[in-house]
Amino acid sequence: MLSVPQKMLAVIFGGRSGEHVVSLRSAESIMKAVDRERYRVIQVGITREGRWITGDSAWQVLRGERPLSEAAEAVLLTDPSRPGLLSRPAEGAAWTFQPLDLAFPVLHGPFGEDGTVQGLLELAGIPYVGSGVLASAVSMDKVVMKILFQKYQLPVAPYLYFYRWDWKRRKRDLAGRIAAELGYPCFVKPANLGSSVGISRVIDEEFFSAAVDEALLYDDKVVVEKAISGREIECSVIGDLEPRASRPGEIIPCNEFYDYRAKYLDDRSLLIVPVELGEQLEEKIKELACAAFKAVEASGLARVDFFVNTDEGQIVINEINTIPGFTSISMYPKLWEVSGISYGELINQLLALAESRFQRRRALRTAPPE
Ligand SMILES: Nc1ncnc2c1ncn2[C@@H]1O[C@H](COP(=O)(O)OP(=O)(O)O)[C@@H](O)[C@H]1O
Ligand SMILES: [Mg+2]
Repeated sequence: MLSVPQKMLAVIFGGRSGEHVVSLRSAESIMKAVDRERYRVIQVGITREGRWITGDSAWQVLRGERPLSEAAEAVLLTDPSRPGLLSRPAEGAAWTFQPLDLAFPVLHGPFGEDGTVQGLLELAGIPYVGSGVLASAVSMDKVVMKILFQKYQLPVAPYLYFYRWDWKRRKRDLAGRIAAELGYPCFVKPANLGSSVGISRVIDEEFFSAAVDEALLYDDKVVVEKAISGREIECSVIGDLEPRASRPGEIIPCNEFYDYRAKYLDDRSLLIVPVELGEQLEEKIKELACAAFKAVEASGLARVDFFVNTDEGQIVINEINTIPGFTSISMYPKLWEVSGISYGELINQLLALAESRFQRRRALRTAPPE
């Protein structure tokens, strides 16, 4: 039997965001399931401080199970003629070069899901799983994402947004507009973040100002949305120019809304996979999930989250996540499992998509003909 040479696959995990621990869990599942005949996993960990490390114990180092001294310091080369990493086991030691064929950034939130690491991989000339710089950045910004969705006539919750400086000068005006145009309850969120951090559900004008101050701790831009009463339905998408959607699932948060505690600290939230919504509604959700994916120009994978009022058949798109949770029990892969793609196969497909997108884009001219 002909053996295919193994490709060097960097699985990048950890990172500076609040979702560091979730990333470690996702990466653990991915590394266990990667097809070892085709790929050799090169662990690339990013500490909470942003230091890059590599080596077979990088994951355990980030978990705190081994000392930092056991991992090698790593630097991703940004020279596309030599795609790979330089690493050295200790300060003063010689650098060694580790070539890379592919990367799977398993980083959730800022400094990883937002186009920053994607930009680095573009410079490095390494094909990577998931969306490029534009889609990653746009999908991290709840305001720009909504503006794009609206451009494509996709349903979003009524919202307003403003910046720190507006808030400083026009507090009263803004509070008045929120009351008049959105009403209470509403949701106040930092525009760029994830995992429900800095988000408040505000039931009354009295609490509005404190919620804005809280959101402003995390970003200069704040988005306020009308509270939508509906079930939280999620749908997985895979593909590139012609994406496909999975069957939908439902999240039943154990708290009043799907806040940080309900997501990560409390295991009483329920995931219903798949959720039976009837053929018509299911088709509509799949269609909107693909449309949202295309609207932000996502690639590879994304999970699109909805609020659905099943009595009235009303659907609102809440957000698109370009690197959704990826443990074997996370919504994204579970929805594929019930839609015919196993966890291992899903990883293979995503890696193949990364390579085909890279080849397609590499064929593009970057300068006029001589
Ligand atoms: N407009 C809204 N109406 C009702 N619930 C909302 C609304 N916005 C957010 N939520 C609740 O807050 C959670 C987190 O908000 P979300 O915008 O998804 O932030 P994150 O990007 O941090 O996941 C949602 O899963 C939902 O439970
Ligand atoms: Mg969310």
